[in-house]
Amino acid sequence: MSSGDHRRRGVASSVGEGPLSRDADWGQRAGAYSVSAAHRSGESLAVLAEFASGRHYRWAVDVGTGVGFTAFAVAPYCDLVLATDSAPGMLEEARREAARRKVGNVGLAVAVAEALPFAPGSLPLVTCRTAAHHFRDLEAAVREWYRALEPGGTLLLADTVTPEDPETARWMNDVELRRDPTHVYDLRPSEWLALLERHGFQVASTALTDSWVARTGVAPEEAAKLRKDFLEAPAPIRGAFAIRQEQGQLRFRWDCLVVRAEKW
Ligand SMILES: C[S@@+](CC[C@H](N)C(=O)[O-])C[C@H]1O[C@@H](n2cnc3c(N)ncnc32)[C@H](O)[C@@H]1O
Repeated sequence: MSSGDHRRRGVASSVGEGPLSRDADWGQRAGAYSVSAAHRSGESLAVLAEFASGRHYRWAVDVGTGVGFTAFAVAPYCDLVLATDSAPGMLEEARREAARRKVGNVGLAVAVAEALPFAPGSLPLVTCRTAAHHFRDLEAAVREWYRALEPGGTLLLADTVTPEDPETARWMNDVELRRDPTHVYDLRPSEWLALLERHGFQVASTALTDSWVARTGVAPEEAAKLRKDFLEAPAPIRGAFAIRQEQGQLRFRWDCLVVRAEKW
């Protein structure tokens, strides 16, 4: 790990079941996301807001905002936050959520992470939480964060990560893809830091927190297969993810890496 504080905490998670088909549009998930405890109040959100605090930003862009939780969390530290997402349906729910919260300084815009519609060096703050593992071209997205940030600008990133062990990482990415067809790839913490540094970022702080609970929904038969695969996984994998049954419920933990990085 690079410099900065590095904490490891975790919470239990469970396999989700629901009606979404494999090629479901993100917009159809907006209602589920708006009530998802992991997104609304997950620990990574608190750490990300803590990383944002202590400074005030003229404006910020939240990339892959979903229904806007990260944009709302950093809004107290910004004059204006533009919450962006490629799915208009998500932004419609974000608009309703902003109204419910009476947040006055969050705007909304459709934008694709790999081609952000902002001038080079124009943004004081970019945030992106639990969205990057869905991006088709992560290299392009990181390049865009760096390009759009002003010199001295801050990136606050949070994303689900695998353990460092390659076998365990492969297992986790496999089950992620089976439960969620929009999943692309969870990096290891070391891969994230190397990627950011390769694109010119200086990593200032990192933390490992909780991640993932039921939210995308998988067909019941697939959920049953997934559950069996979790419970019958080799012992090192069960240990790595704290896989267990509690009152008939499958419980386990995925970690989330939170990073504050600067453009210099
Ligand atoms: C897990 S949700 C985001 C959660 C949200 N950031 C939060 O903190 O609660 C992932 C979001 O990424 C968006 N997304 C996926 N691929 C994208 C891309 N290439 N560009 C922009 N948004 C994308 C999806 O539409 C979805 O709303």
